Amino acid sequence: MTASIIDGKLIAEQVRGEVAEEVTKLIAAGMPRPGLATVLVGDNPASHVYVKSKRKSCEELGIESYGFELPATATQEQLDSLLVKLNADPKVNGILVQLPLPGHLDEERALSLISIDKDVDGFHPVNVGRLAMKRRDPIFVPCTPAGCIVLLQRSGCKLEGKRAVVLGRSNIVGMPAALLLVRENATVTICHSKTQNLPDVVREADILIAAIGRARFVKGSWVKPGAYVIDVGINQIEDATKKSGHRLVGDVDFDEVKEVAGAITPVPGGVGPMTIAMLMRNVVRAAKAASKK
Ligand code: GUN
Repeated sequence: MTASIIDGKLIAEQVRGEVAEEVTKLIAAGMPRPGLATVLVGDNPASHVYVKSKRKSCEELGIESYGFELPATATQEQLDSLLVKLNADPKVNGILVQLPLPGHLDEERALSLISIDKDVDGFHPVNVGRLAMKRRDPIFVPCTPAGCIVLLQRSGCKLEGKRAVVLGRSNIVGMPAALLLVRENATVTICHSKTQNLPDVVREADILIAAIGRARFVKGSWVKPGAYVIDVGINQIEDATKKSGHRLVGDVDFDEVKEVAGAITPVPGGVGPMTIAMLMRNVVRAAKAASKK
C-alpha cells in the first residue's frame, strides 16, 4: 500500500484564500485593516527567516504588519514596555513574539504580558489553560498544532474515537496538539524521550503526529497500516547530491512510512505552510472580535 500524500501547500493555500476573502469583507464593511505586530529579539537566523515569511504572508493577504526588532542585549524592561505599548495600540490586533527568546529573557513573563485578545500564537497561559479544560474555550490555539488538525480534517480523517499518538510534548507543538486531539474526541497518548517500547506504542496509532526534532526517527515497521501520519519535524541533514550540501527531512522516515501509512505529510510541503496560514486566520479572528467590542 502506498500512502496518499497530504498536500500542505494546497490546503494552506485554501486557508489563505479564505482569510483573504474575510479581509476583503471586513474592509468592504468599513473596518480597519487587521494588523499583526511581530517582535523579534536578537539575531537567531531561523527566527529572522520565520518572521520575514510571516510579514510577507500578511502583505499577500491584505493584513498590516508592524515589525519590531530588539537587539540580543535587550533588557526584560525593554521587551515588557514594548508589549504593553502594543497591547494598547488599536491598530495592532495580534502580537507575535518569535521564540526562542535570548536566554536572559523570561519567556513566560513575556507571553503572559500579551493581552489574551491579541495572543494570536495561543501561548498565553490563560489560552493554554482553557485549551486543557473541559467546557472552556481558548480565544486562540497555537498555530502549528491547529494546522495539523486542519490537515487531518481536510484530508478526510475522522478524529472522533480514534487512537492518536503524539511524539513530543513541547509547549509549541506536542502538548497543544495532544489537547486539540482530545477536544476532537480522539484517545490520545503522548510519547517522549522516557517512553518505553516506543515502536509498540506508535503501532497503536490510527493518527500519528511526530514532533520530536529527530531526523527520520519513525520507521515504517512502527506504523499501523492505513494510519494518518503528520510529520512536524524540520531537520537539516547532509546531502552531497545537493548544491547546498544539505536538505530538509522530517521526523518520519518518509520513504519507509509511505509504504505503510494511509496518508502522510511530506517535508517540506506538509505542516510547514500551515503554521503561517493558521496565524493569518487568528489575526483576522482577532480583528473581527476587536471590532465587536
Ligand atoms: N518558534 C517556533 N515556532 C513558533 C511559533 O509558532 N510562534 C512563535 N512565536 N515562535 C515560534
